[in-house]
Amino acid sequence: MSRVEQSAKLDLERIVFIGRTFEEYIDMFSLSIEEWKGKKILDCPAGACSFTAVGNQLGLDVTACDIAYDHSGEDLKNKGLQDIEHAMEHMQKVQSNYVWDYFEDIESLRKHRLSALNDCTNDMAESSERYVPVTLPSLPFKDGEFDFILSAHFLFMYADRLDYQFHIKTLNELLRVTKEEIRIFPLVDLEGKRYEHLDQLVSFLTEKGCTVEEVQVPYEFQTNANSMLKIYKST
Ligand SMILES: C[S@@+](CC[C@H](N)C(=O)[O-])C[C@H]1O[C@@H](n2cnc3c(N)ncnc32)[C@H](O)[C@@H]1O
Repeated sequence: MSRVEQSAKLDLERIVFIGRTFEEYIDMFSLSIEEWKGKKILDCPAGACSFTAVGNQLGLDVTACDIAYDHSGEDLKNKGLQDIEHAMEHMQKVQSNYVWDYFEDIESLRKHRLSALNDCTNDMAESSERYVPVTLPSLPFKDGEFDFILSAHFLFMYADRLDYQFHIKTLNELLRVTKEEIRIFPLVDLEGKRYEHLDQLVSFLTEKGCTVEEVQVPYEFQTNANSMLKIYKST
């Protein structure tokens, strides 16, 4: 195995390739499909989500981007299958931190995660141009290339390893490539605590001329993860 192949394999080991379904995105971002038809949407980072696959079948125009997309769909599917099994084992120990009404039990959760992974990796094979490898805080897109951006389970959630400056740089980049609006879900970290710099970050955005709203949504799986940030770009 060459050095390049070895390092790619190591990188794949560091990726956790798990994603939510289209239906979960609809609820966690309070989306209306009709309202978003004809708009260009970016899911960033999208991981193993089926929002792009199903959204495009339903007539939306969605692009997915993620650091993981440097790897082949087949490698990602195999990694995703392993990651789902590990996550379900871990879930046995922490299930009291979650609200079990969207998913009845761990088996139902497993089915949803497998369905998202299958839809995502099948679509990667058919529409590879919609799956763009990126490394935040930079994006390879033009200014204002998208109307809307959705960002789930990344910013705020990994506050233990992504510092405030990373959040600011990423938000500046998301604002650069969007024309209208960014939605971020959830507003809590992995322990379910509100992101500690959220007020500071909202002030930063407001000073830049954005209008920012915190909105309750009809989706709560991780306890307290039930609201999103809507950021309207100044015109
Ligand atoms: C927990 S997943 C969230 C996926 C999806 N949005 C969801 O809600 O299910 C986080 C994703 O962030 C990606 N990621 C981590 N660091 C990144 C970076 N610097 N740039 C782009 N993507 C990154 C990972 O590969 C992973 O797919």
